[in-house]
Amino acid sequence: MQRPRRLRRTPALRALTREIRLSAEQFILPLFIHEGVGDQEIRTMPGVLRHDLPGLLARVQEAHDLGIGSIILFGIPDHKDPHGSEAYAGGGIVQKAITEIKARFPTLTVIADTCLCEYTDHGHCGPLIPDGAGGWTVDNDAALPLLAQTAVSQARAGADIVAPSAMMDGQVGAIRAALDAAGFSDVPVMAYAVKYASGYYGPFREAAGSTPSVGDRASYQMDPAGGYREALREARLDVAEGADYLMVKPALAYLDVMRVVKDEFELPMVAYNVSGEYAMLKTAALAGMLDEKRTVLETLIAFRRAGADAIMTYHALDAARWLREDA
Ligand code: PBG
Ligand code: ZN
Repeated sequence: MQRPRRLRRTPALRALTREIRLSAEQFILPLFIHEGVGDQEIRTMPGVLRHDLPGLLARVQEAHDLGIGSIILFGIPDHKDPHGSEAYAGGGIVQKAITEIKARFPTLTVIADTCLCEYTDHGHCGPLIPDGAGGWTVDNDAALPLLAQTAVSQARAGADIVAPSAMMDGQVGAIRAALDAAGFSDVPVMAYAVKYASGYYGPFREAAGSTPSVGDRASYQMDPAGGYREALREARLDVAEGADYLMVKPALAYLDVMRVVKDEFELPMVAYNVSGEYAMLKTAALAGMLDEKRTVLETLIAFRRAGADAIMTYHALDAARWLREDA
């Protein structure tokens, strides 16, 4: 009789042949930096903070000590305007933070999220123009040079990777060309290639104050019901434009999409375990409804099983600590 249980008898036997492993080096920790003084709690994301610079550096130290090799930065400026000018200001909050972090942690990979929505007063990922029907729409082609300028300013500040998340058509190509022209041909583009218009970004938008004041992002982010062909098309365009990494976002509700993208392309793939996914699990754990360590690690394993090479997750610090405990 076949008895699969023979291979599960002891922890050592189970570890001997397991296919999926997690390590802190595969985690990317998202961090928020604001221009005010002090760290602020975020109502929608228990345990995550909006940092000032000293708070940010302390958090980075913690991550570094736990073996987390990468972080991604999101800036929350004091000043927002229609064109998101603080996103590409040389002395912008993210640019300053990148420089400070790289000076102290030269071996840490610092990724900059490249978008305008935290910087525009209307909360959209590009400038608005009238849509001809009395409303507003995002001006795709006007966003491109602004995104390119943002990426170059981030690279100039010392970013190791830029990660365009605006879902503007042509953004990867525009950014790649601008980086090359500015002498940053070795800075990779981590493309938010397959990014859905998702309710799971809600907690992030409260954290970053980037909820659109008019309309929503459905005309540029993808339709959750769109299917695999649309996902493959978006990924293929980004590959053709010079992407170095492909990201699928959100992660939990899109594990199938991850697997499809992973099987089709050779580029490394990143799963973004987004704010709403974090909030669901964290809230249930805080309410004593489930075992946080078990469920978080099980979830991170699922992303790896679906093909993710790296995982962007707000659980990174906790998970790295748990992996260390178990080692
Ligand atoms: C900016 C951006 C967003 C997220 C990452 N980059 C917000 C959005 O698209 O509305 C969401 C991350 C999260 O929910 O954790 N474009
Ligand atoms: Zn955006």
